[in-house]
Parts: sequence; structure tokens; C-alpha cells
Amino acid sequence: MTSTLPHSIRDRFPLLAHAVYLNSCSQGALSTDVRGAYDRYLTDWDEKGAPWDLWVELNEGARSRFARLLNASTEEIAVTTSVSAGVSSLLGGLRHPEGRNTIVLSDFEFPTVAQIVHAQELTGTKVIHVPASPDGTMSLDRMAEVIDDETALVAITYVCFRNGSKTDIEGVIDLAHEAGAFVLLDAFQAVGAIPIDVRELDVDFAVGGTLKYLLGSAGLAFLYCRADHLPHITPTQTGWFADEDIFKMDIYDYSPSATASKFESGTPPVPSIYAGIAGMDLMDEIGIAETEEHVATLIEQLIEGLDRTGVPMVTPRDPAHRGPMIAVPTTDEQAMVAALAEDGILTTPRDGNIRLSWHCYNSAEDVEAVIAGLESHADLLAH
Ligand SMILES: Cc1ncc(COP(=O)(O)O)c(C=O)c1O
Repeated sequence: MTSTLPHSIRDRFPLLAHAVYLNSCSQGALSTDVRGAYDRYLTDWDEKGAPWDLWVELNEGARSRFARLLNASTEEIAVTTSVSAGVSSLLGGLRHPEGRNTIVLSDFEFPTVAQIVHAQELTGTKVIHVPASPDGTMSLDRMAEVIDDETALVAITYVCFRNGSKTDIEGVIDLAHEAGAFVLLDAFQAVGAIPIDVRELDVDFAVGGTLKYLLGSAGLAFLYCRADHLPHITPTQTGWFADEDIFKMDIYDYSPSATASKFESGTPPVPSIYAGIAGMDLMDEIGIAETEEHVATLIEQLIEGLDRTGVPMVTPRDPAHRGPMIAVPTTDEQAMVAALAEDGILTTPRDGNIRLSWHCYNSAEDVEAVIAGLESHADLLAH
């Protein structure tokens, strides 16, 4: 079937009528669906007062959507308010097997994962960083040099938030498992843009959220924990929504759920759940595999245009090592972002680069617009 993207869905995103939106790696564009969900939240609040049963039901709705999205079971999903909340709860409760006291960390990690990993040094964990290769990829060889029988956990990012590099996560998971180590995958820059099947990957833990390519908003995230790990992890960072029976209101003991909800905390992020469910339902309707294919075509067109006009990129050129975001080096990232914004093109800066991220709603016209924009501000490009 020929894809109808992006034209079949563009009018659901009012912002696109007046902007070229290349900022989905920061936050997805607001859809009429998500705006409607926020309206429903206010209406429910207004009409029903404090509908706790409905909120708990919606929390379960978010859990089942995350489970379907990742091909996990609902018992393996914690509904969290951020990646940080999920990773902190997980690492605080994870006991390293005898003789394994090292966490291996790729240099592509988002600060929050790296900082939480380093926080484990306070309890004696050793942390080893793996730098990127000169070609901008996270190489399996470099990973293999440090993953050994002392490694408890390997933390990797699917798509790097800095340079858009996509890591061979299957390769890393194999390496780690062969050495007897677990893997924590940060999929935030991929989920919604690239289909993810945790069963097929056989990854131990995975995190992400709805803010970016899942078209939701801030405040809703997930932690996947493979079922066989659940009995062995007891978080110390907790709250009443992690209890085996939240309505028991017990104050005399700590009896966390046997499921991944043991990684949850306090009152769920109710407004963000309305929005996140609407965003995930919209991505379900649009299709993540269809989006990936559409974006791959746009990025081919983009790279052709960059080459034609002499605009450099820092993202690896190999299609196996790039995802939905392409980073372009500048001499002044803030000035380039501001100059493009003047032209109606919305991007974000990172590490001297500007990030151009592509989603289901972007068009071939967007590609031509950003190439023309970059060409007209060529004085701000770094070669
Ligand atoms: C790869 C990655 N991980 C994590 C985060 C954010 O984590 P948190 O939900 O804790 O703010 C981001 C986003 O901004 C990200 O790009």
C-alpha cells in the first residue's frame, strides 16, 4: 500500500500551518487529539470532582498501551512520571550478583541516566564509560573491550540525543548477555519513531516516555522490567502506588507489588496520562513502521540536499547508524536556531550542532525549506 503520509494527518497538527516543525526530538507537535484529551481532563474534573477510580483506570490504560507498544506484558510495565523516576527506582533496588560490581555506560547517554548511574558509586559501584568512535558511532568493539565478568549492567541509548547516532542495540545486548550482564536501554529518542519489540530484543530493562515521537506531553514515561527479574528487585525509592494494594492504605509495612508497578511512586500524572494515551492512540492509527519508512525517505532526500549544497552533518551517514534525527554542525548553534526560527523553521541546538528531527507529519517541502534555510545562513555552518 502506498503511504498517505504526511498529508493524511497534517491538519491534525495546527502548528504545521505556520511552521516547519523539526523539533520532535525535543517534543512532538501538539495535535488536535491531544488538545481534546486535555479538554476531557478538565471536563471530567469539572463534572466528576475527584474521580479517583477513573484516574486509576486511566493509569492502567497507559500501562496497557505501553505494553502493546513494546510487545511486553502489563505486569512488566511501570507507569512513571519520567525516565529519571523509573531508572532511579530500578537502580536503587537492583542488587548486583556476587563479583559483579561494574556498570558500563555509553557516552551517548542522556545526562539523567549517566547521573543516576554515577549516584550508584555512593554505594560502591564502579562505573566505566565507553567513548564514541571517531565516525560518531558507538562501536561494538569498544563495548566488547570493557564488558566482562565483573559487569553487572550495561546502559545504552538507542538513538543518541546529541548527534542522532543509532546504536546496534541487538549487538550490545548479545555482548552483555554472553558476559552474564544485564542491559538497560534508553529508548526515549526512538520510541514512536522506530518499532521496538522488547521480547525480540530480549532486553532486560527499557525506558522511554510520551513527550517526543509518541506525541504526548511531559510527565508520562515507562519502565519495562523483564518478568524474570521482578522477584529479585526491591526498590527503596517507592510510594503508595507501588504497593501490592494501593487502596489498603497500610502504614505498618512495605509490601511492594509483585509486578513492575513496584517501581511507581505517588499519585499518577493524571493530566499527562490523558494526553499520553491520546498521543499513543494517534501513533497507533498513523503506524510506527509507516512513520519509520516515511522518515527514512525524507532523510534520504535531506542528505542528498545537504550534499548538493555543501552543508555538513555529524550524524553517521550509514542508514544502519541513524534514526529520525540528523545533526548539523554550526559555529554558533543558538544563532543558527534563531536564524532558522525567523524563517519559520523550528529546531533545537545541542553541542554546537542543530538537531533536525523528522516525524510522520513532516513533508518533502519541509526538507526543501530547511535546506534553503541552511544554505542562506551558510556563514553559521561549521565545516
Ligand atoms: C535519550 C533521552 N533520555 C531521557 C530523556 C529525559 O528523561 P526524563 O524523562 O527523566 O526527563 C530525554 C529527553 O529529553 C532523552 O532524550
